[in-house]
Amino acid sequence: MTTMTAPAEHIEPKPGAARSVEQPGPSAIERIQQGLETIADIHQSVRAEQPILEVEEFCLWYGHAQAIHNITMGIPKGKVTALIGPSGCGKSTLLRSVNRLNDLIDSVRIGGRMLLNGQSVYDPSVDVIDLRKRMGMVFQRPNPFPMSVFENVVYPLRIDGERRREVLAEACERALRGAALWDEVKDRLSESALGMSGGQQQRLCIARAIVAEPDVLLLDEPCSALDPIATLRIEELIHEIAERYTVLIVTHNMQQASRVSDFTAFMYLGRLVEYGATEAIFQQPHLRETEDYVSGRFG
Ligand SMILES: Nc1ncnc2c1ncn2[C@@H]1O[C@H](COP(=O)(O)OP(=O)(O)OP(=O)(O)O)[C@@H](O)[C@H]1O
Ligand SMILES: [Mg+2]
Repeated sequence: MTTMTAPAEHIEPKPGAARSVEQPGPSAIERIQQGLETIADIHQSVRAEQPILEVEEFCLWYGHAQAIHNITMGIPKGKVTALIGPSGCGKSTLLRSVNRLNDLIDSVRIGGRMLLNGQSVYDPSVDVIDLRKRMGMVFQRPNPFPMSVFENVVYPLRIDGERRREVLAEACERALRGAALWDEVKDRLSESALGMSGGQQQRLCIARAIVAEPDVLLLDEPCSALDPIATLRIEELIHEIAERYTVLIVTHNMQQASRVSDFTAFMYLGRLVEYGATEAIFQQPHLRETEDYVSGRFG
């Protein structure tokens, strides 16, 4: 993977300078489709927050295809931020860029910067393993390892060299309680995780993602493989987790975004279009295209 300077296509909007829905001229999406410069409408409510993660003029290419175009956004500390947008708009790519999972893809090139707690994510001196430890990640499909419940949860600590039995046991219980799974599995910690239900497996993956006390929890459509009841439990869990961690969640589900997140960012064709408090994005978006998307009129 190589780094290159981002083209200077992005212009920071002035606070309060949002284009109103009534204003004539091409819409944000028409401009994107015409390959014209677009300005993300970032609400003042987001700008007022302290960001734990700062994305600055971030671009990403898979070979020649550009998947992320000049995204600048802050992810507020200690809050839940949802990334929404039509399939293929770059949500997972952006999420995977945060913990440098895209480094594993040979054709990937990036431009721009990301800062976690003010420290560069992409600086050549960064220890990527160390960086990933500060960010727990949960994927669409639960991916427990073929080992016991206990070993699944403490896996990140073991690869970090922790061997003390009592430390591992304590961390395991804390993480399983944090993932609302302790009561269900406390008597079967030594059984295979593969025998659990899908919803339990996903909560196990959340336990594994929080066991090392990360700064940020990255969730990529964590409920899309689950039934409604298991989904509800995970959503409740996200609320609880958000009291201790910053959560960045990708979701296709509008109701889910409005239920679980404090802030919502709407993406389209690799661009950030509008970003604000979730209530504002769903009830009083500045842009007509955001309104069309959140009300299900397109996408
Ligand atoms: N490994 C890859 N190699 C090449 N192109 C990729 C790769 N992963 C994603 N892309 C492309 O990058 C763009 C963004 O994809 P991404 O998976 O980030 O979208 P998404 O918003 O998460 O979509 P979905 O909602 O369907 O999960 C798409 O055009 C996709 O085809
Ligand atoms: Mg995706």
